[in-house]
Amino acid sequence: MSTEEKETTDSGIALGDAIKQRFKDYVVPNYGRFDTVLTRGTGCYVWDEQERRYLDLGAGIAVCSLGHAHPSMTAALAEQAARLVHVSNLYYNDLQGQFAERLVSLIAPGKCFFCNSGAEANETLIKLARKVGSASGRFEIITCLNSFHGRTMAGISATGQEKVKVGFEPLLPGFVHVPFNDLESVEKAISPATIAVMIEGIQGEGGINPATPEFLLGLRELCDERDLLLLFDGVQCGHFRTGRFQSYERILEGVEMTKPFLPDGISMAKSLGGGFPMGAVWIDQKHSDVLGPGTHGTTFGGTPLASATGLAVLDEIEKNDLETNARQVGDIFCEALKGLQAEFPNVVAEIRGLGLMIGVEFVEGFTSRFTADRPLSIQMVVALEKEGMLVIPAGTKVIRFLPPLNVSEEQAKEAVAILRRTIKGLI
Ligand SMILES: Cc1ncc(COP(=O)(O)O)c(C=O)c1O
Repeated sequence: MSTEEKETTDSGIALGDAIKQRFKDYVVPNYGRFDTVLTRGTGCYVWDEQERRYLDLGAGIAVCSLGHAHPSMTAALAEQAARLVHVSNLYYNDLQGQFAERLVSLIAPGKCFFCNSGAEANETLIKLARKVGSASGRFEIITCLNSFHGRTMAGISATGQEKVKVGFEPLLPGFVHVPFNDLESVEKAISPATIAVMIEGIQGEGGINPATPEFLLGLRELCDERDLLLLFDGVQCGHFRTGRFQSYERILEGVEMTKPFLPDGISMAKSLGGGFPMGAVWIDQKHSDVLGPGTHGTTFGGTPLASATGLAVLDEIEKNDLETNARQVGDIFCEALKGLQAEFPNVVAEIRGLGLMIGVEFVEGFTSRFTADRPLSIQMVVALEKEGMLVIPAGTKVIRFLPPLNVSEEQAKEAVAILRRTIKGLI
């Protein structure tokens, strides 16, 4: 079928229109969706209902760490589904413990808790902080402006962006927001009620803003001095995306330190399951038994099916050294994008990021083809989609590349060529 010919339903309505109509009629309209209807995928490519192919470098917002329909993940899901999908956390299962052991071995001594999403993982960190602070009457958590920590009530209360909170007041009390990478402001915000500081190593939704090494080291020192927990939201920037397992490892590479940097808790989700929904939290040894029996839980956390899938994703990453791939392709990608910035200085304002978490910030008003009623980032994403590439907007001026960890150098170059062609068509 040519892309001109639209596949139609029995009633003669274009298939895409029929699918979208069903959403209008039956799905809560809480997402601003792009027009595209996706039906299948393989590796870094997805196809729409008209069999049009897209280079997918959003990967479900940093989720599909092995790309689409990866055979190892498919096999792990199928094999485990045939053996044991779910048992209650009232019982032991062989795979949850193995998965926890693998994650601990990638971070440091401690223990893991399993849940279903990033918001839930952060909720766990927040409850951990509250529980640790309860004996001394401390409950306040300092987070950063422009951060994003999820859509639950605690998640939006923790998030440093007003737009996610509007209409949901009263929020959960006990969150204070300070500018990112500003240690002095963190210090000033500490009160007798403070128990923790929670940050993203690289702010994702906020526009791909990496923490500076000074901020990380300063925070660790400050938290040690004031007896505060340092909590890391690694939901988007974790799981090898930066070319190291956790973003702070990459940020602090080559930096002289008197002792190894380590947060007290880390949340994970997104890439962890390669597309199978799961979340996890790592808690350092000192605090690993704080959440005792009856304090926290979730029906679906760490099921045999989720654990088998998470382990298969880790196996595939290790077997193919996708950690190095993320670093190498990420560096090449970033350099090529910086070349575009040099070629179009009136269009591309900045390239930011580490590994396969890259943001391109555009100059407001660079094209007369965009309308004033929608953010530049959204219109850029739509323009790129028309050219056959999917990326993710962040804020009003930034697009994000968050490709699968096995993206190739050729695909990164293809992405830069599509972006170049799109820019040329807009100026
Ligand atoms: C840094 C960060 N934390 C938390 C979340 C929430 O994760 P989830 O959507 O799985 O609840 C997100 C999602 O975008 C995120 O980017």
